[in-house]
Amino acid sequence: MPLIAPSLLASNFLKLADECQMLNESEADWFHLDVMDGRFVPNISYGIPIIEQIRKTTSKICDVHLMIVEPEKFAEDFKKAGADILTVHIEACPHLHRNIQQIKSLGMQAGVAINPHTPVNSLLEVLSDIDVVLIMSVNPGFGGQSFIPHSIEKIKQLRKMIDDAGLKTKIEVDGGVSLDNAKQIVDAGADVLVAGNAVFKSADPKQTIHQLKSL
Ligand code: DX5
Ligand code: ZN
Repeated sequence: MPLIAPSLLASNFLKLADECQMLNESEADWFHLDVMDGRFVPNISYGIPIIEQIRKTTSKICDVHLMIVEPEKFAEDFKKAGADILTVHIEACPHLHRNIQQIKSLGMQAGVAINPHTPVNSLLEVLSDIDVVLIMSVNPGFGGQSFIPHSIEKIKQLRKMIDDAGLKTKIEVDGGVSLDNAKQIVDAGADVLVAGNAVFKSADPKQTIHQLKSL
């Protein structure tokens, strides 16, 4: 059974408290919080003050996905804002090992995200140091894009790498996840499904979360 991490990027920001309440009442496991800086990705989303407020509404895991350059400058601020998991992009981190150590030393779980063009074997030397690998199944920056089919192969390869090494690292898949493709993604080896539009734009978000969970 996968963990479900709805992405608040697709929520109604004017009703953020209600959206958080809905997730609290649902079977969602994690709150997925997308931070974009307009530099690493061609879009700007929301930042630390919003995450601080969201944190106050929930005891579920706050899974912060940083799509920003120089994440080391803000890791401590995200910890203070209440992040449980802090994920950085391999493409934004020339000193990735140092970033991972920093996140863990601040008491958070460490995640590493990879863009569609980045091979899973680029994670080989850090896999045993991290808690989560986030496979981007769209190009980061926007919600509501279509799932890139090749991502399935990457999930399978990573599943094998993790199992062969006897690790517990979780595979999180982010971008274009829907009720139509979720089963295929889980069967390929994903542990965590991020879903933005599929949840928040559905007629009954709680029911959609339930369906994603029971695939
Ligand atoms: C994209 C973000 C995703 C996004 C997913 O850059 O990292 O988390 O919110 O949205 P959907 O599920 O609508 O593709
Ligand atoms: Zn994300």
